[in-house]
Amino acid sequence: MTLLEFPQNFWWGAATSGPQTEGRFHKTHDNIFDYDFDHFPDHYWGGIGPDTASNFYNDYQTDIALMKAAGLSSVRTSIQWTRLIDDLETGTVNADAARFYNAVIDEFIANGIKPVINLHHFDIPVSLVHKYGGWESKHVVDLFVKFAQASFTLFSDRVTDWFTHNEPMVVVEGGYLYQFHYPDIIDGKRAVQVAYNLQLASSKAIAAFRQVNQNPDGKIGIILNLTPNYPASASPEDQAAATFADLWQNRLFLDASVKGAFAAELVDVLTNDDVLWASTAEELAIIQKNTVDYLGVNFYHPNRAQAPKYAPDSLAIDWLPDKYFEVFDKRGVRMNADRGWEIYPKALYDIAKNIQENYGNIAWFVSENGMGVAREDRYLGEDGIIQDDYRIRFIKEHLYYVHKAIAEGANCFGYHLWTPIDCFSWRNSYKNRYGLIAVDVHRQDKTLKKSAHFFKALSASSSFDISDIEMAK
Ligand code: BG6
Repeated sequence: MTLLEFPQNFWWGAATSGPQTEGRFHKTHDNIFDYDFDHFPDHYWGGIGPDTASNFYNDYQTDIALMKAAGLSSVRTSIQWTRLIDDLETGTVNADAARFYNAVIDEFIANGIKPVINLHHFDIPVSLVHKYGGWESKHVVDLFVKFAQASFTLFSDRVTDWFTHNEPMVVVEGGYLYQFHYPDIIDGKRAVQVAYNLQLASSKAIAAFRQVNQNPDGKIGIILNLTPNYPASASPEDQAAATFADLWQNRLFLDASVKGAFAAELVDVLTNDDVLWASTAEELAIIQKNTVDYLGVNFYHPNRAQAPKYAPDSLAIDWLPDKYFEVFDKRGVRMNADRGWEIYPKALYDIAKNIQENYGNIAWFVSENGMGVAREDRYLGEDGIIQDDYRIRFIKEHLYYVHKAIAEGANCFGYHLWTPIDCFSWRNSYKNRYGLIAVDVHRQDKTLKKSAHFFKALSASSSFDISDIEMAK
């Protein structure tokens, strides 16, 4: 037996979001996924959309009891803008929604689970996209701040841990570059403005938090999907491609959120290409002043970057960041075939080192990491428990590198698995299951998987035995 021990008070938890669990019941507004599904159901795996939820809205007490049974000491979810706010222009609160979120927060606390609250998890109200162009509009930035302010006012007496956005880069890429989120636009210049406005929204929300937060222990951060870009070769072209991919995908939000300024190298490229965002000195001062208290880092897979094969002129679109890099699948590596993602746990160590060396060793936690597997009923044991040993192995391998980084001084304070209970996952819907707890969406049956039992022991002892994992031998 070789035990890996983690610090006391390490967060052992899991992450989810409001729109992926609550269901659409009783919402005042539709978000972009509600609208997209109503109009283009074939965008969604199996034609299953956000209406088919794991029913957290009605079942939150049962679900939280199951999360407790899985040993979770903290859980991240999000408040839905489209549920909490009645009048999007003025930011007035819907009383039923406030009651619901109050009850959820109290239920978490009563079960000894720290509620960690995020505000924006891709789920902008669709009417703001149609009326103002969504995140392209600075007016929408200010409406988001009203929603944020209402949330802090209502819940910061009990919620100490807050995040502004989940993976803002996915909003940019999905909605404005690669067409996997509504509004499915391909336009690099507009994507650049969306990125800037998302950062501005985060910084302005942080400023609001510092004014209305009621709790001396209150902290606020941003959750970023930091995916290292490993160059295909040592050639200067591939190295330059990987450097730009890192600037665009990681450093854009990371530098602005932690250091209070966008990376000068990125600003130079965007300026030279005549696609730089529209900003004002006053906005840049807000970004400079309102840096994060800590970071959430979502990590699933690394990227491999190489110099683009196509000359920029052959791109039909005026400007795309793809002008500078191309992401490719490396041959012969370990893959999660169901999701098409490479499995490379050491990347978490590389991320930790980067934060330690280049971002003042700011406090951070793994806010999402996980393995989505299709048709998990294949692994149903005779005892009725899904034998998801592959997930336990995945968790252990990633934690091995978190542990190594902490031993070398990384300021990492927790690990959240995606996700507590199998949930609706945007256009992939219920294809890949990530949960510690399985759900039969038709019968609303919820059962702990083998990984939940593993997680409970992990959380109780803040340690696990690594001796069965190859890398430890
Ligand atoms: C993360 C998101 O990037 O990936 C989650 O924050 C999402 O919201 C998760 O559900 C898994 O995504 P997918 O597409 O594999 O189901």
